[in-house]
Amino acid sequence: MRSDLRPEAFRRLRRGRLGDPYLYVEECRSTQELVRDAALPEGAVAVTEHQTSGRGRLGRTWEDAAGSSLLCSVLLRPQGGALPQLSLVAALATAEAIEELTGGRALVKWPNDVLVDGLKVAGILLEQVEGAVVTGIGVNVGQESHELPAGTRTPAGSLRTVSGRGHDRGLVLAALLGRLEAAYGTWSGQGLEAILPALEGRNALRGLEVVVGGVQGVAAGIAPGGGLEVVLPSGATTVVESGEVEVQGSVDVGE
Ligand code: BTN
Repeated sequence: MRSDLRPEAFRRLRRGRLGDPYLYVEECRSTQELVRDAALPEGAVAVTEHQTSGRGRLGRTWEDAAGSSLLCSVLLRPQGGALPQLSLVAALATAEAIEELTGGRALVKWPNDVLVDGLKVAGILLEQVEGAVVTGIGVNVGQESHELPAGTRTPAGSLRTVSGRGHDRGLVLAALLGRLEAAYGTWSGQGLEAILPALEGRNALRGLEVVVGGVQGVAAGIAPGGGLEVVLPSGATTVVESGEVEVQGSVDVGE
């Protein structure tokens, strides 16, 4: 399987305007650090084969298998717009790209995970820097089961383990950046409501018993502001704006 992320190869695959400049290194601590530069324009993308200090949400680490993962950070400069919403925008784009390439139904587990068959194949990390947002996206692409982190809150999968075949990381990146540009453009111009139906169609949590943000109940839809609606035992609905979702039982694949 050809899986070349070097600039010469990616230039031929790139769709749209994200990825200019394209900063490629064989190894780094975290791609998040490579685009934390006020001088870089919106759309700058950093990509590496291996991170020695990959970061996940809530201070966690993000592990990769060198040469098998897609590890990228995109510099965006959203005008207004709540930051947590951008996490949903990026998760939606990632799910769409994964589905386009693998054919497997990809769902968004609010607020930032992408699941196929109940397995987490991608995660999003947003970090704010001087008027910009570094949007980090990690996709497990070519890892075999034994190369994936064990004991994670949501069991991990890769595009290989869920589809049974290898995938070209250059094609995954090109699809991802193309989808991100489209979703980001829609969100920037029309707000989250314009992408809510697409997000709702990929809502991995709807109907599941969850504990999140100090409440327990049944997850419902994604609220117009980007929070998660939870139906409480009393029958009332509350909206949780941020937090880590704990699913009681395994995550359903939806549909
Ligand atoms: C999560 O699910 O906790 C978010 C994971 C985000 C991982 C990506 S990989 C590229 C970028 N660089 C990092 O150090 N983290 C993000």
